[in-house]
Amino acid sequence: MSQHSAPPTPEGGPAVGHAAASRDVVSHRGLADVVAASTAISDIDGRAGLLFYRGYDIHDLSGAVSFEECAHLLHRGDLPDREQLTNYRAELAEGRRLGATTEAVLTTGVATQPPMEALRTLVSALSADDPDTGSNAPDANARKAARLVAQMPTLVAVYHARRTGSTVPDVDPGLDIAGNFLLQITGRRPDPAAVAAFDECLVLHADHTMNASTFAARVCAATLSDMHSAVTAAMGALKGPLHGGANEQVMTMLADIDERVDDESARQRIVDEHVRAKLDTDQKIMGFGHRVYRTEDPRATHLRRMSRRLAQLTGEPKWYEMSAHLEQTVFQVKALRPNVDFYAASVYHYLGIPTDLFTPVFAISRMSGWTAHVIEQHADNRLIRPDSEYIGQPPRRVKPLSER
Ligand code: SDX
Repeated sequence: MSQHSAPPTPEGGPAVGHAAASRDVVSHRGLADVVAASTAISDIDGRAGLLFYRGYDIHDLSGAVSFEECAHLLHRGDLPDREQLTNYRAELAEGRRLGATTEAVLTTGVATQPPMEALRTLVSALSADDPDTGSNAPDANARKAARLVAQMPTLVAVYHARRTGSTVPDVDPGLDIAGNFLLQITGRRPDPAAVAAFDECLVLHADHTMNASTFAARVCAATLSDMHSAVTAAMGALKGPLHGGANEQVMTMLADIDERVDDESARQRIVDEHVRAKLDTDQKIMGFGHRVYRTEDPRATHLRRMSRRLAQLTGEPKWYEMSAHLEQTVFQVKALRPNVDFYAASVYHYLGIPTDLFTPVFAISRMSGWTAHVIEQHADNRLIRPDSEYIGQPPRRVKPLSER
Protein backbone atom coordinates (compact mmCIF):
# COMPACT_ATOMS: atom_id res chain seq x y z
CA MET A 1 0.00 0.00 0.00
CA SER A 2 1.42 3.32 -0.99
CA GLN A 3 2.25 5.95 1.67
CA HIS A 4 1.37 8.70 -0.79
CA SER A 5 -1.85 9.09 -2.67
CA ALA A 6 -0.93 12.02 -4.91
CA PRO A 7 1.55 12.21 -7.78
CA PRO A 8 4.72 14.15 -6.88
CA THR A 9 5.20 17.75 -8.02
CA PRO A 10 8.50 18.62 -9.71
CA GLU A 11 9.64 19.91 -6.26
CA GLY A 12 8.88 16.60 -4.63
CA GLY A 13 5.78 17.52 -2.56
CA PRO A 14 2.25 16.25 -3.07
CA ALA A 15 0.42 17.73 -6.03
CA VAL A 16 -1.73 20.73 -5.21
CA GLY A 17 -5.40 19.88 -5.06
CA HIS A 18 -4.77 16.19 -4.29
CA ALA A 19 -5.36 14.71 -0.86
CA ALA A 20 -2.10 13.52 0.67
CA ALA A 21 -3.71 11.47 3.42
CA SER A 22 -2.48 7.88 3.55
CA ARG A 23 -4.65 4.91 4.44
CA ASP A 24 -4.11 2.76 7.54
CA VAL A 25 -1.72 -0.06 6.87
CA VAL A 26 -1.98 -3.48 8.49
CA SER A 27 0.97 -5.51 7.38
CA HIS A 28 1.12 -9.25 8.11
CA ARG A 29 4.68 -10.35 7.52
CA GLY A 30 4.56 -13.56 5.50
CA LEU A 31 0.74 -13.15 5.37
CA ALA A 32 0.59 -15.00 8.72
CA ASP A 33 -3.01 -15.47 9.90
CA VAL A 34 -4.39 -13.77 6.77
CA VAL A 35 -7.30 -15.60 5.17
CA ALA A 36 -6.40 -15.50 1.48
CA ALA A 37 -9.15 -17.68 0.02
CA SER A 38 -12.33 -19.55 0.83
CA THR A 39 -12.09 -23.26 0.18
CA ALA A 40 -14.17 -26.38 0.64
CA ILE A 41 -11.21 -28.65 -0.10
CA SER A 42 -9.24 -28.89 3.14
CA ASP A 43 -9.20 -27.42 6.62
CA ILE A 44 -6.67 -27.32 9.46
CA ASP A 45 -7.24 -26.85 13.16
CA GLY A 46 -3.74 -25.80 14.13
CA ARG A 47 -4.37 -25.84 17.88
CA ALA A 48 -5.93 -29.29 17.96
CA GLY A 49 -3.55 -30.66 15.30
CA LEU A 50 -6.33 -31.75 12.96
CA LEU A 51 -6.51 -31.85 9.18
CA PHE A 52 -9.63 -32.52 7.12
CA TYR A 53 -10.12 -33.19 3.41
CA ARG A 54 -13.65 -32.15 2.47
CA GLY A 55 -14.83 -32.86 6.02
CA TYR A 56 -13.02 -36.20 6.47
CA ASP A 57 -10.42 -36.35 9.25
CA ILE A 58 -6.98 -37.28 7.91
CA HIS A 59 -6.70 -39.80 10.76
CA ASP A 60 -9.71 -41.61 9.28
CA LEU A 61 -8.55 -41.33 5.67
CA SER A 62 -4.94 -42.38 6.28
CA GLY A 63 -4.55 -46.09 5.61
CA ALA A 64 -8.26 -46.44 4.84
CA VAL A 65 -8.54 -44.95 1.34
CA SER A 66 -6.25 -45.21 -1.67
CA PHE A 67 -4.61 -42.20 -3.30
CA GLU A 68 -7.03 -42.62 -6.22
CA GLU A 69 -10.02 -42.37 -3.85
CA CYS A 70 -8.42 -39.36 -2.19
CA ALA A 71 -7.79 -37.58 -5.51
CA HIS A 72 -11.40 -38.25 -6.51
CA LEU A 73 -12.50 -36.75 -3.19
CA LEU A 74 -10.45 -33.61 -3.79
CA HIS A 75 -11.34 -33.22 -7.48
CA ARG A 76 -14.95 -34.30 -7.54
CA GLY A 77 -16.17 -33.47 -4.04
CA ASP A 78 -16.69 -36.88 -2.44
CA LEU A 79 -15.25 -40.34 -1.99
CA PRO A 80 -16.18 -42.47 -5.00
CA ASP A 81 -18.51 -45.45 -4.93
CA ARG A 82 -17.25 -48.61 -6.63
CA GLU A 83 -18.44 -47.64 -10.09
CA GLN A 84 -17.08 -44.11 -9.82
CA LEU A 85 -13.74 -45.47 -8.62
CA THR A 86 -13.55 -47.93 -11.51
CA ASN A 87 -14.27 -45.13 -13.98
CA TYR A 88 -11.85 -42.72 -12.31
CA ARG A 89 -9.07 -45.34 -12.28
CA ALA A 90 -9.68 -45.96 -15.99
CA GLU A 91 -9.51 -42.22 -16.65
CA LEU A 92 -6.21 -42.00 -14.76
CA ALA A 93 -4.77 -45.03 -16.57
CA GLU A 94 -5.78 -43.53 -19.91
CA GLY A 95 -4.32 -40.14 -18.96
CA ARG A 96 -0.87 -41.17 -17.74
CA ARG A 97 0.80 -41.28 -21.18
CA LEU A 98 3.09 -38.40 -22.11
CA GLY A 99 2.53 -36.58 -25.39
CA ALA A 100 4.96 -35.99 -28.24
CA THR A 101 5.96 -32.51 -27.06
CA THR A 102 6.88 -33.68 -23.58
CA GLU A 103 8.82 -36.60 -25.07
CA ALA A 104 10.66 -34.10 -27.28
CA VAL A 105 11.49 -31.87 -24.30
CA LEU A 106 12.88 -34.95 -22.53
CA THR A 107 15.48 -35.25 -25.28
CA THR A 108 16.74 -31.67 -24.89
CA GLY A 109 19.05 -32.21 -21.95
CA VAL A 110 16.38 -31.45 -19.36
CA ALA A 111 17.28 -34.76 -17.73
CA THR A 112 20.66 -33.32 -16.77
CA GLN A 113 19.00 -30.61 -14.69
CA PRO A 114 18.28 -31.11 -10.97
CA PRO A 115 14.93 -32.85 -10.50
CA MET A 116 12.67 -29.97 -9.48
CA GLU A 117 14.04 -27.71 -12.22
CA ALA A 118 13.55 -30.39 -14.83
CA LEU A 119 10.10 -31.31 -13.61
CA ARG A 120 8.93 -27.70 -13.48
CA THR A 121 9.78 -27.49 -17.20
CA LEU A 122 8.22 -30.85 -17.99
CA VAL A 123 4.97 -30.09 -16.15
CA SER A 124 4.72 -26.91 -18.18
CA ALA A 125 5.34 -28.84 -21.40
CA LEU A 126 2.40 -31.16 -20.70
CA SER A 127 -0.04 -28.45 -21.78
CA ALA A 128 1.17 -28.63 -25.38
CA ASP A 129 -0.30 -32.10 -25.82
CA ASP A 130 -3.33 -31.75 -23.60
CA PRO A 131 -6.55 -32.00 -25.62
CA ASP A 132 -8.26 -29.52 -23.28
CA THR A 133 -5.59 -26.83 -23.50
CA GLY A 134 -7.22 -23.46 -23.99
CA SER A 135 -10.32 -24.19 -21.93
CA ASN A 136 -10.92 -23.40 -18.26
CA ALA A 137 -14.45 -24.82 -18.40
CA PRO A 138 -15.40 -27.10 -15.48
CA ASP A 139 -15.50 -30.33 -17.51
CA ALA A 140 -12.18 -29.50 -19.23
CA ASN A 141 -10.60 -28.66 -15.88
CA ALA A 142 -11.83 -31.95 -14.37
CA ARG A 143 -10.25 -33.90 -17.23
CA LYS A 144 -6.99 -31.91 -17.06
CA ALA A 145 -6.79 -32.43 -13.30
CA ALA A 146 -7.08 -36.21 -13.67
CA ARG A 147 -4.49 -36.25 -16.47
CA LEU A 148 -2.02 -34.14 -14.46
CA VAL A 149 -2.35 -36.46 -11.44
CA ALA A 150 -1.80 -39.48 -13.70
CA GLN A 151 1.10 -37.93 -15.64
CA MET A 152 3.09 -36.63 -12.68
CA PRO A 153 4.41 -40.06 -11.54
CA THR A 154 5.14 -40.94 -15.17
CA LEU A 155 7.15 -37.73 -15.56
CA VAL A 156 9.23 -38.42 -12.44
CA ALA A 157 9.88 -42.04 -13.48
CA VAL A 158 10.81 -41.12 -17.07
CA TYR A 159 13.04 -38.24 -15.92
CA HIS A 160 14.82 -40.62 -13.51
CA ALA A 161 15.27 -43.26 -16.20
CA ARG A 162 16.68 -40.73 -18.68
CA ARG A 163 19.21 -39.34 -16.24
CA THR A 164 20.35 -42.80 -15.17
CA GLY A 165 20.36 -44.23 -18.69
CA SER A 166 17.87 -46.93 -17.76
CA THR A 167 14.51 -47.88 -19.24
CA VAL A 168 11.20 -47.41 -17.48
CA PRO A 169 9.47 -50.71 -16.73
CA ASP A 170 5.98 -50.99 -18.26
CA VAL A 171 3.17 -50.19 -15.87
CA ASP A 172 1.47 -53.13 -14.26
CA PRO A 173 -2.30 -52.78 -14.79
CA GLY A 174 -2.82 -54.67 -11.53
CA LEU A 175 -1.15 -51.86 -9.58
CA ASP A 176 -2.38 -48.38 -8.78
CA ILE A 177 -0.37 -45.14 -8.89
CA ALA A 178 1.63 -45.95 -5.73
CA GLY A 179 2.63 -49.46 -6.82
CA ASN A 180 3.44 -48.50 -10.38
CA PHE A 181 5.59 -45.58 -9.27
CA LEU A 182 7.66 -47.79 -6.94
CA LEU A 183 7.94 -50.38 -9.72
CA GLN A 184 9.13 -47.78 -12.21
CA ILE A 185 11.58 -46.07 -9.86
CA THR A 186 13.19 -49.14 -8.28
CA GLY A 187 12.85 -51.46 -11.29
CA ARG A 188 11.50 -54.19 -9.00
CA ARG A 189 7.98 -55.40 -8.31
CA PRO A 190 7.32 -53.71 -4.97
CA ASP A 191 6.46 -55.47 -1.77
CA PRO A 192 2.74 -55.02 -0.88
CA ALA A 193 3.71 -53.45 2.47
CA ALA A 194 5.83 -50.87 0.63
CA VAL A 195 2.98 -50.11 -1.78
CA ALA A 196 0.56 -49.66 1.13
CA ALA A 197 2.98 -47.33 2.92
CA PHE A 198 3.62 -45.23 -0.18
CA ASP A 199 -0.08 -45.05 -0.99
CA GLU A 200 -0.66 -43.75 2.54
CA CYS A 201 2.08 -41.12 2.05
CA LEU A 202 0.36 -39.93 -1.11
CA VAL A 203 -2.90 -39.51 0.79
CA LEU A 204 -1.19 -37.66 3.64
CA HIS A 205 0.52 -35.17 1.32
CA ALA A 206 -2.39 -34.48 -1.03
CA ASP A 207 -3.63 -31.12 0.24
CA HIS A 208 -2.97 -28.64 3.01
CA THR A 209 -5.02 -25.44 2.77
CA MET A 210 -3.17 -22.27 1.74
CA ASN A 211 0.40 -23.58 1.77
CA ALA A 212 2.84 -21.61 -0.38
CA SER A 213 2.62 -23.71 -3.55
CA THR A 214 -1.18 -23.94 -3.46
CA PHE A 215 -1.39 -20.20 -2.93
CA ALA A 216 0.92 -19.70 -5.91
CA ALA A 217 -1.35 -21.93 -8.00
CA ARG A 218 -4.46 -20.02 -6.94
CA VAL A 219 -2.92 -16.62 -7.60
CA CYS A 220 -2.03 -17.77 -11.11
CA ALA A 221 -5.44 -19.37 -11.73
CA ALA A 222 -7.21 -16.24 -10.48
CA THR A 223 -5.87 -14.26 -13.44
CA LEU A 224 -7.89 -16.80 -15.48
CA SER A 225 -4.69 -18.35 -16.63
CA ASP A 226 -4.86 -22.11 -17.24
CA MET A 227 -4.35 -25.13 -14.99
CA HIS A 228 -0.93 -26.06 -16.43
CA SER A 229 0.38 -22.55 -15.80
CA ALA A 230 -0.95 -22.65 -12.24
CA VAL A 231 0.67 -25.99 -11.37
CA THR A 232 3.93 -24.84 -12.98
CA ALA A 233 3.89 -21.85 -10.61
CA ALA A 234 3.19 -24.26 -7.76
CA MET A 235 6.17 -26.44 -8.76
CA GLY A 236 8.42 -23.39 -8.52
CA ALA A 237 7.12 -22.54 -5.05
CA LEU A 238 7.36 -26.12 -3.82
CA LYS A 239 11.03 -26.37 -4.78
CA GLY A 240 12.25 -24.08 -1.99
CA PRO A 241 13.80 -25.55 1.19
CA LEU A 242 11.30 -23.80 3.43
CA HIS A 243 8.52 -25.72 1.68
CA GLY A 244 8.82 -28.96 -0.30
CA GLY A 245 12.60 -28.98 -0.43
CA ALA A 246 12.81 -29.73 3.30
CA ASN A 247 12.23 -33.50 3.03
CA GLU A 248 15.36 -33.97 0.89
CA GLN A 249 17.39 -31.88 3.31
CA VAL A 250 16.20 -33.99 6.25
CA MET A 251 17.59 -37.12 4.60
CA THR A 252 20.84 -35.35 3.75
CA MET A 253 21.15 -34.33 7.41
CA LEU A 254 20.51 -37.90 8.60
CA ALA A 255 23.06 -39.26 6.12
CA ASP A 256 25.65 -36.64 7.18
CA ILE A 257 25.18 -37.55 10.84
CA ASP A 258 25.39 -41.25 9.98
CA GLU A 259 28.72 -40.71 8.20
CA ARG A 260 30.17 -39.26 11.37
CA VAL A 261 29.27 -42.37 13.41
CA ASP A 262 32.25 -44.69 13.65
CA ASP A 263 31.17 -46.31 16.90
CA GLU A 264 27.51 -47.32 17.39
CA SER A 265 27.53 -46.30 21.06
CA ALA A 266 28.26 -42.71 19.95
CA ARG A 267 25.29 -42.38 17.55
CA GLN A 268 22.92 -40.62 19.92
CA ARG A 269 25.63 -38.29 21.20
CA ILE A 270 26.45 -37.26 17.61
CA VAL A 271 22.76 -36.60 16.89
CA ASP A 272 22.58 -34.42 20.04
CA GLU A 273 25.73 -32.52 19.10
CA HIS A 274 24.40 -31.86 15.61
CA VAL A 275 21.09 -30.50 16.88
CA ARG A 276 22.63 -28.32 19.57
CA ALA A 277 25.29 -26.93 17.22
CA LYS A 278 22.61 -25.91 14.73
CA LEU A 279 20.23 -24.39 17.25
CA ASP A 280 23.03 -22.63 19.19
CA THR A 281 23.96 -20.83 15.98
CA ASP A 282 20.35 -19.97 15.06
CA GLN A 283 20.24 -22.36 12.14
CA LYS A 284 17.04 -24.14 11.13
CA ILE A 285 16.61 -27.86 11.55
CA MET A 286 14.80 -29.04 8.44
CA GLY A 287 11.54 -30.89 8.98
CA PHE A 288 10.63 -28.98 12.15
CA GLY A 289 8.23 -26.13 12.85
CA HIS A 290 5.06 -25.09 11.10
CA ARG A 291 3.23 -21.85 10.43
CA VAL A 292 -0.17 -23.25 11.43
CA TYR A 293 0.24 -26.21 13.80
CA ARG A 294 0.69 -25.40 17.48
CA THR A 295 0.82 -29.09 18.35
CA GLU A 296 1.73 -32.28 16.48
CA ASP A 297 1.20 -32.14 12.72
CA PRO A 298 -1.31 -35.02 12.29
CA ARG A 299 0.53 -36.22 9.20
CA ALA A 300 3.73 -36.64 11.23
CA THR A 301 1.90 -39.03 13.58
CA HIS A 302 1.29 -41.44 10.70
CA LEU A 303 4.67 -40.96 9.07
CA ARG A 304 6.46 -41.66 12.37
CA ARG A 305 4.51 -44.93 12.70
CA MET A 306 5.32 -45.84 9.09
CA SER A 307 8.99 -45.09 9.56
CA ARG A 308 9.10 -47.33 12.66
CA ARG A 309 7.31 -50.14 10.79
CA LEU A 310 9.53 -49.91 7.71
CA ALA A 311 12.60 -49.88 9.97
CA GLN A 312 11.48 -53.28 11.28
CA LEU A 313 10.57 -54.63 7.85
CA THR A 314 13.84 -53.60 6.23
CA GLY A 315 15.99 -54.57 9.23
CA GLU A 316 17.67 -51.17 9.03
CA PRO A 317 16.49 -49.38 12.16
CA LYS A 318 19.10 -46.63 12.26
CA TRP A 319 17.20 -44.10 10.15
CA TYR A 320 14.10 -44.34 12.27
CA GLU A 321 16.09 -44.45 15.51
CA MET A 322 18.17 -41.41 14.58
CA SER A 323 15.00 -39.55 13.57
CA ALA A 324 13.28 -40.40 16.84
CA HIS A 325 16.27 -39.28 18.87
CA LEU A 326 16.63 -36.10 16.85
CA GLU A 327 12.94 -35.35 17.39
CA GLN A 328 13.39 -35.72 21.17
CA THR A 329 16.43 -33.45 21.27
CA VAL A 330 14.86 -30.72 19.11
CA PHE A 331 11.83 -30.74 21.38
CA GLN A 332 13.99 -30.55 24.54
CA VAL A 333 16.11 -27.70 23.21
CA LYS A 334 13.55 -25.60 21.31
CA ALA A 335 10.09 -27.16 21.85
CA LEU A 336 9.70 -27.57 18.10
CA ARG A 337 7.76 -30.50 16.66
CA PRO A 338 8.33 -32.39 13.41
CA ASN A 339 6.31 -31.37 10.38
CA VAL A 340 5.19 -33.55 7.48
CA ASP A 341 8.66 -33.59 5.94
CA PHE A 342 10.61 -35.00 8.87
CA TYR A 343 9.51 -38.65 9.01
CA ALA A 344 8.64 -38.62 5.30
CA ALA A 345 12.40 -38.56 4.68
CA SER A 346 13.17 -41.89 6.38
CA VAL A 347 9.95 -43.41 5.00
CA TYR A 348 10.87 -42.53 1.41
CA HIS A 349 14.41 -43.75 2.01
CA TYR A 350 13.16 -47.11 3.28
CA LEU A 351 10.97 -47.33 0.17
CA GLY A 352 14.04 -47.07 -2.06
CA ILE A 353 13.28 -43.60 -3.43
CA PRO A 354 16.47 -41.64 -4.28
CA THR A 355 16.89 -38.68 -1.93
CA ASP A 356 16.85 -36.03 -4.66
CA LEU A 357 13.43 -37.29 -5.80
CA PHE A 358 11.78 -36.68 -2.42
CA THR A 359 10.37 -33.27 -3.39
CA PRO A 360 9.13 -34.50 -6.79
CA VAL A 361 7.44 -37.37 -4.94
CA PHE A 362 5.68 -34.84 -2.72
CA ALA A 363 4.59 -33.09 -5.93
CA ILE A 364 3.08 -36.35 -7.26
CA SER A 365 0.68 -36.26 -4.36
CA ARG A 366 0.21 -32.49 -4.08
CA MET A 367 -0.73 -32.31 -7.78
CA SER A 368 -4.14 -33.61 -6.68
CA GLY A 369 -4.54 -30.71 -4.24
CA TRP A 370 -3.18 -28.03 -6.58
CA THR A 371 -5.50 -29.07 -9.40
CA ALA A 372 -8.50 -29.23 -7.04
CA HIS A 373 -7.72 -25.66 -5.96
CA VAL A 374 -7.50 -24.49 -9.58
CA ILE A 375 -10.91 -26.05 -10.28
CA GLU A 376 -12.30 -24.31 -7.21
CA GLN A 377 -10.69 -20.95 -8.07
CA HIS A 378 -12.02 -20.99 -11.63
CA ALA A 379 -15.48 -21.97 -10.43
CA ASP A 380 -15.86 -18.77 -8.38
CA ASN A 381 -13.12 -16.43 -9.45
CA ARG A 382 -11.94 -13.05 -8.36
CA LEU A 383 -8.46 -11.74 -9.18
CA ILE A 384 -6.13 -12.17 -6.17
CA ARG A 385 -4.37 -8.87 -5.88
CA PRO A 386 -3.27 -7.90 -2.37
CA ASP A 387 -1.76 -4.54 -1.48
CA SER A 388 1.74 -3.74 -0.27
CA GLU A 389 3.15 -1.50 2.42
CA TYR A 390 5.49 1.01 0.79
CA ILE A 391 8.74 1.42 2.77
CA GLY A 392 10.85 3.22 0.14
CA GLN A 393 11.78 6.83 -0.63
CA PRO A 394 9.17 9.56 -0.24
CA PRO A 395 8.03 11.20 -3.49
CA ARG A 396 10.98 12.94 -5.17
CA ARG A 397 11.92 14.82 -8.29
CA VAL A 398 13.53 13.11 -11.31
CA LYS A 399 16.81 14.96 -11.92
CA PRO A 400 18.19 15.11 -15.46
CA LEU A 401 21.14 12.77 -16.04
CA SER A 402 23.58 15.74 -15.97
CA GLU A 403 22.57 16.58 -12.34
CA ARG A 404 22.72 13.05 -10.82
C1 SDX B 1 5.85 -27.82 4.42
O1 SDX B 1 2.30 -24.55 5.16
C2 SDX B 1 2.16 -25.72 4.75
O2 SDX B 1 1.10 -26.23 4.76
C3 SDX B 1 3.39 -26.40 4.26
C4 SDX B 1 3.35 -27.91 4.33
C5 SDX B 1 2.37 -28.46 3.28
O3 SDX B 1 1.73 -29.46 3.57
O4 SDX B 1 2.33 -27.90 2.20
O5 SDX B 1 2.98 -28.34 5.62
C6 SDX B 1 4.66 -28.57 3.94
O6 SDX B 1 6.30 -27.01 3.68
C7 SDX B 1 6.46 -28.10 5.78
C8 SDX B 1 7.58 -27.14 6.14
C9 SDX B 1 8.91 -27.63 5.59
N1 SDX B 1 9.98 -26.68 5.95
C10 SDX B 1 10.88 -26.95 6.90
O7 SDX B 1 10.86 -27.98 7.56
C11 SDX B 1 11.94 -25.89 7.05
C12 SDX B 1 12.26 -25.65 8.51
N2 SDX B 1 11.14 -25.02 9.13
C13 SDX B 1 11.03 -23.65 9.14
O8 SDX B 1 11.88 -22.84 8.45
C14 SDX B 1 9.74 -23.04 9.64
O9 SDX B 1 9.33 -23.68 10.79
C15 SDX B 1 8.61 -22.93 8.61
C16 SDX B 1 9.06 -22.39 7.29
C17 SDX B 1 8.00 -24.31 8.40
C18 SDX B 1 7.52 -22.02 9.20
O10 SDX B 1 8.02 -20.72 9.20
P1 SDX B 1 7.36 -19.51 9.99
O11 SDX B 1 5.97 -19.78 10.34
O12 SDX B 1 7.67 -18.30 9.20
O13 SDX B 1 8.16 -19.53 11.36
P2 SDX B 1 9.49 -18.74 11.65
O14 SDX B 1 10.52 -19.08 10.67
O15 SDX B 1 9.12 -17.31 11.82
O16 SDX B 1 9.91 -19.35 13.04
C19 SDX B 1 9.34 -18.94 14.30
C20 SDX B 1 10.35 -19.25 15.37
C21 SDX B 1 11.70 -18.61 15.10
O17 SDX B 1 12.35 -18.45 16.36
P3 SDX B 1 12.40 -17.03 17.11
O18 SDX B 1 13.07 -16.11 16.12
O19 SDX B 1 10.95 -16.68 17.35
O20 SDX B 1 13.18 -17.32 18.33
O21 SDX B 1 10.61 -20.66 15.42
C22 SDX B 1 11.97 -20.91 15.03
C23 SDX B 1 12.43 -19.64 14.32
O22 SDX B 1 13.81 -19.48 14.35
N3 SDX B 1 11.97 -22.03 14.15
C24 SDX B 1 12.96 -22.89 14.01
C25 SDX B 1 12.52 -23.80 13.07
N4 SDX B 1 11.29 -23.48 12.67
C26 SDX B 1 10.95 -22.38 13.33
N5 SDX B 1 14.14 -22.97 14.59
C27 SDX B 1 14.93 -23.98 14.20
N6 SDX B 1 14.57 -24.92 13.30
C28 SDX B 1 13.38 -24.83 12.73
N7 SDX B 1 13.01 -25.75 11.83
